[in-house]
Amino acid sequence: MILEALKGRSLLTLLDYSEAEIRCLLDMAKSVKEEQQRGKIQQRFTGKTLALLFEKRSTRTRCAFETAFGEEGGHPVFLSREDIQLGAKESIEDTARVLGRMFSAIQFRGFKQSTVEILAKYSGVPVYNGLTDSFHPTQALADIMTLEENFGSVKGRKLCFVGDGRNNVARSLAVISAKLGIRFTVITPPSLNPDPELLERCTPLAAASGGEIRISPDTGEVRDADAIYTDVWVSMGEEAKREERIRLLQDYQVNRQLMEKTGRRDSIFLHCLPAVKGEEVTADVIDGPQSRAWDEAENRKHTIKALMLATIGI
Ligand code: CP
Ligand code: NVA
Repeated sequence: MILEALKGRSLLTLLDYSEAEIRCLLDMAKSVKEEQQRGKIQQRFTGKTLALLFEKRSTRTRCAFETAFGEEGGHPVFLSREDIQLGAKESIEDTARVLGRMFSAIQFRGFKQSTVEILAKYSGVPVYNGLTDSFHPTQALADIMTLEENFGSVKGRKLCFVGDGRNNVARSLAVISAKLGIRFTVITPPSLNPDPELLERCTPLAAASGGEIRISPDTGEVRDADAIYTDVWVSMGEEAKREERIRLLQDYQVNRQLMEKTGRRDSIFLHCLPAVKGEEVTADVIDGPQSRAWDEAENRKHTIKALMLATIGI
């Protein structure tokens, strides 16, 4: 029944996904990963096509979509902003209408959230947000999969995001935490707080799921955290803010002393990658024993395959 509800759906923010639907995607991702480990590759996307639209660079997201779709017999087509008319000579609506006639699904990575929303509205096929300035929902699925691999159920677990609290990754973690009952704290200087509108949407969701969304400028809040998460201080498209961000965030680096502030040896470190070692995280932490960043990167592929299996339908 949940699989039926997921068929044909887009993934734009995760806000419109129920806890049971997210659970279903995570369970599918787990079995897809086990299949891959057993060497059991099926051909569930034979005869299907996937448009991969990229306005911004990508390693993990592009490779996860391409390999997950291609190894199951599907045909992914990579289209950068240099290749197609999207938003330049042709409106996004018209591009969406045309792609919807040719492709089984569309992935979009770029700047505006409105672009991915318009693609979903006019294409008539599932559209996946592979990162916009506002959200990174496929990343959040892989992050939770990684948390579950380490701790089992994530309900009531404490996740702390330390760094640029208003960025796309922090915002998507707030959404998924609120849906799944995770105690999520954004530790960031006040000028980089997530926007109040998103918090207004997430707070009641967290209350309903048994989770919590908190914001604090104090790195001491990582005490007892199951996981500390960080992301780059300067997201794609914000390069002009580099000096300001380094000034604002220099006390928020995830280093050994910060990891020790959890008071726990079994706390893990997460990072969506790419990382700027020496800025938001030190090399000894991201390359050290508490880091799960590489599992997290691998899990992008399994969660994305599960998402496509559920929404394109098999
Ligand atoms: N985490 C992530 O989205 O990585 P890419 O930018 O390499 O796709
Ligand atoms: N916040 C980062 C995430 C990269 C995966 C960015 O938008 O550049």
